[in-house]
Amino acid sequence: MDKFRIGIIGAGHIAEKMAATLAGMEEAEAYGVASRDLAKAEEFARRFNFTKAFGSYEALADDPLVQLIYVATPHSLHHDHVRMCLLKGKPVLCEKAFMANAAEAEDVIGISESRGVFLAEAIWTRYMPFYRTIAERANDGTIGKPMMVTAHLGYPVSHKERIMKPELGGGALLDLGVYTINFALNVFGKDIRKITSHCTVAETGVDLQDNICLEYEDGRMAVLMATALCANDRQGIISGDGGYIIVDNINNSLKAEIYGKDHVLKETIHAPEQITGFEYQVRACISAISQGKYETPFMPHSESLAVMKMLDGIRKNAGVTFPNDLKMQRP
Ligand SMILES: NC(=O)c1ccc[n+]([C@@H]2O[C@H](COP(=O)([O-])OP(=O)(O)OC[C@H]3O[C@@H](n4cnc5c(N)ncnc54)[C@H](OP(=O)(O)O)[C@@H]3O)[C@@H](O)[C@H]2O)c1
Repeated sequence: MDKFRIGIIGAGHIAEKMAATLAGMEEAEAYGVASRDLAKAEEFARRFNFTKAFGSYEALADDPLVQLIYVATPHSLHHDHVRMCLLKGKPVLCEKAFMANAAEAEDVIGISESRGVFLAEAIWTRYMPFYRTIAERANDGTIGKPMMVTAHLGYPVSHKERIMKPELGGGALLDLGVYTINFALNVFGKDIRKITSHCTVAETGVDLQDNICLEYEDGRMAVLMATALCANDRQGIISGDGGYIIVDNINNSLKAEIYGKDHVLKETIHAPEQITGFEYQVRACISAISQGKYETPFMPHSESLAVMKMLDGIRKNAGVTFPNDLKMQRP
C-alpha cells in the first residue's frame, strides 16, 4: 500500500506529537516538515525521520508530492496558513481552535467548499472511537434520560507566550475550553437555547479561566470549566435519572465508569489501544481525501463553524478581543 504523504507546518510542541504518531502509522509517511527556520526544520526532520525539511511554510505547500498538511501554529495564524495551503490546492488538517474567530472559519470553509479542497479541524477527541462509544452509552438508556453534562479541563500553561498574547489568539477558551464544548456537543448535540459564561481576564486581555453553561432547548444542561492556571481532574460526567458516567479525561478519554443511581459501579469501559490518539484524525482525513470529499463526517465544517460562533459569543461576553477580529472586518 502506498503511504499517504503528510506535511507539518510549524515545528513546535504539538508537531512533535503528530510526528511521533506518524512514526507508528502504517498508512502515513512523515513526508515534510516546514519551519520558519530551515535549521530547525532539518533538526526536526532528522529526529522524527521525515523525508524532507523546508525553510518556509509556502515551500512545503508548493511541494507537488505532499498530500495532507497539518497546520500546527498558534491560533491567530491558522487562517493565513490554512488559506495559503487551500489556495495552492493542498488538503489541510488544522489544529484546534480551528480559527481565531467565526469570520475566519467562514472564509476558509468557503474556499474549501468552492474549490473542493479538503479541510478539517484537528480536534482529535472528535475522531476517537471511544468518544463515540461514550456518546452511545450516554444515550442508550443505560443511565436513563441524560440531562446534565459537566466537563473540566485545566493545565497550568499561563507561562506560555501563545496562551498570554491576544495577537496569538491566546486564552484558556480557545486552547482548553474548546475541548469541554466539544465534549458536550458529542453527547448532547448543538440544539442549544442559551449560553452564559464567566471568565477571568488577564492584564494582557486574554481569558485565563472560563465557566460556561450551555442550556439546551429541552432543558438539558452542560456546565463546563476551563483553566489555564491550574491542573485539574479533566473529568467529564454525564448524568441521567438512572445513573451517571464518569469519563476519566475529556482530553484523551481512555476509561469510563458507569454508575447506577444507587452510586454503585456497574461497568467500566476502556478505549482501544492507540498510538497517541492522533492517528484517528489522520486516518479520517486520508479516508475522506481518498474518496474525493472536502470534509470528514467526524467533524464536519458546520460543526467547526458552530463551535467558533460559540467561542466568539463567550469572548464577546467577557470583552476579550483579538487583533484578528479587526482583520476580518477590513474591506
Ligand atoms: N491537540 C492537542 O492536544 C494540542 C495540544 C497543544 C496544542 N495544540 C494546538 O496546536 C497549535 C500549536 O500549539 P503548540 O503548543 O504546538 O505551540 P508551539 O509549541 O508554540 O508551536 C507553534 C509553532 O508555530 C510556529 N509559529 C509560526 N509563527 C509563530 C509565531 N508568531 N509565534 C509562535 N510560533 C509561531 C512555530 O514553528 P516554527 O518556528 O517551526 O516555524 C512554533 O514552533 C495550537 O493551535 C494549539 O491549540 C493542540
